[in-house]
Amino acid sequence: MLSEQSAAVVRATLPAVGASLDKITERFYAGMFAAHPELLRDLFNRGNQAAGTQRQALAGSIAAFATHLLDHPDQRPDAMLQRIAHKHASLGVTPDQYGIVHEHLFAAIAEVLGEAVTPEVAAAWDEVYWLMGNALIALEKRLYEERGGHGWRTWRVVERIPETADVVTFRLRPADGGPVRDFRPGQYVSVRVALPDGARQIRQYSLTGAPGPQERQFAVKRVHGDGAPDGEVSNHLHARVHAGDLLELSEAYGDLVLDADPGTPLLLASAGIGVTPMIAMLAHLAENGHRAPVTVVHGDRSPADHALRNDHLAYAAKLPDGAVHLWYEQDAPAGAHTGYVDLAEVPVASGTRAYLCGPLPFMRSVREQLIGKGVAPAGIHYEVFGPDLWLARQD
Ligand SMILES: Cc1cc2nc3c(=O)[nH]c(=O)nc-3n(C[C@H](O)[C@H](O)[C@H](O)COP(=O)(O)OP(=O)(O)OC[C@H]3O[C@@H](n4cnc5c(N)ncnc54)[C@H](O)[C@@H]3O)c2cc1C
Ligand code: HEM
Repeated sequence: MLSEQSAAVVRATLPAVGASLDKITERFYAGMFAAHPELLRDLFNRGNQAAGTQRQALAGSIAAFATHLLDHPDQRPDAMLQRIAHKHASLGVTPDQYGIVHEHLFAAIAEVLGEAVTPEVAAAWDEVYWLMGNALIALEKRLYEERGGHGWRTWRVVERIPETADVVTFRLRPADGGPVRDFRPGQYVSVRVALPDGARQIRQYSLTGAPGPQERQFAVKRVHGDGAPDGEVSNHLHARVHAGDLLELSEAYGDLVLDADPGTPLLLASAGIGVTPMIAMLAHLAENGHRAPVTVVHGDRSPADHALRNDHLAYAAKLPDGAVHLWYEQDAPAGAHTGYVDLAEVPVASGTRAYLCGPLPFMRSVREQLIGKGVAPAGIHYEVFGPDLWLARQD
């Protein structure tokens, strides 16, 4: 994939690029948003930008892609590319925007690394950028085509269901009354809201099942700032969006989808609001009478904080061979454990495929425990409810 000449240059400069990623990221976003303020206002998550955290995903993934090209010249890191392409497509990223990112990323690299960026070095990294960029553009084109193009569709909230003190479910129907496309259990939609200052911010919410063929539903946890500003979109949805109101949604995207034949043992592990994609998966498995063992694992602060608890337990109870293991930090009822998820006593069938969703420390811990129990790393899939910084390190 990468020319021999560029491979040598990329290999020699990768450590310098990797070591300066923080600075490059900072300059890149500053330059891009100065030239294109609309991208910060209406496309990127301005909370993540303001917090200064989780900004390395984009530049970090290019460094990870370069490493992959050098280590496995004949393979494409498809899992990583698919993950990014689904996220981009849900946001409506367009091919021409790759030129904008390229311009500002390379200006930042030149500024930070200075004279080390000779024309030869710039050309080699250009090749890496466009190998990745063109692969993403092609994947995104396909995703758009499969969904009849990208467009924000207007939906009407038909019901707002309080789940816990901090979680609300929204049930919606298309305002135009038209048909609703199928989605795969585990997928999410992007939701775009107009905020009081005129910005339009976009966030992703996992679909929690199909309440009817003409409907979609998702559950939103209100994010408290705890010293920092409260989460913008989740609090906006909680405070301002009620039955009868309109919301803009993308089609469904996401590569963490249930993909198992009826004979595959499954383990669905979630914590907190990470339960949402598991609900859609369990609904699907219950409906199809998945015959192999399904192990449901969930950790939460308390039963009262466990969003969609009734659905979670009811779907699991419908499975021919389901087992539920729950951990609560407090108020654990009989049959549940007190404390954090610990799989030591949980039987895990050989050949199990696992799906994980929750905070990163939870997923790291569950992943390690599963590998310790003989689950193949390739059989462990996960969703991160934020920019996926794990991506670069796992795949
Ligand atoms: C694939 C996917 C699926 C998801 N599914 C769900 C789901 O089913 N349900 C759900 O509830 N969520 C889900 N999420 C998360 C959701 O998309 C949002 O990230 C979440 O609702 C928070 O968005 P927000 O706008 O409220 O917070 P943001 O405004 O994005 O804030 C995020 C964080 O940044 C902090 N912050 C903001 N500004 C500053 C500042 N100036 N300084 C310091 N810190 C700051 C905030 O305190 C907060 O902790 C999913 C995410 C992804 C990627
Ligand atoms: C080769 C070029 C690019 C690479 C390697 C790249 C990589 C990434 C990665 C790794 C993520 C995080 C994925 C996740 O959360 O799972 C991401 C998210 C995102 N990307 Fe890209 N990207 C590229 C180009 C673009 C372009 C051209 C745009 C549009 C201007 C764009 C806009 C976004 C946005 C808005 C997000 C969500 C993060 C947020 O809202 O803060 N990206 N990208």
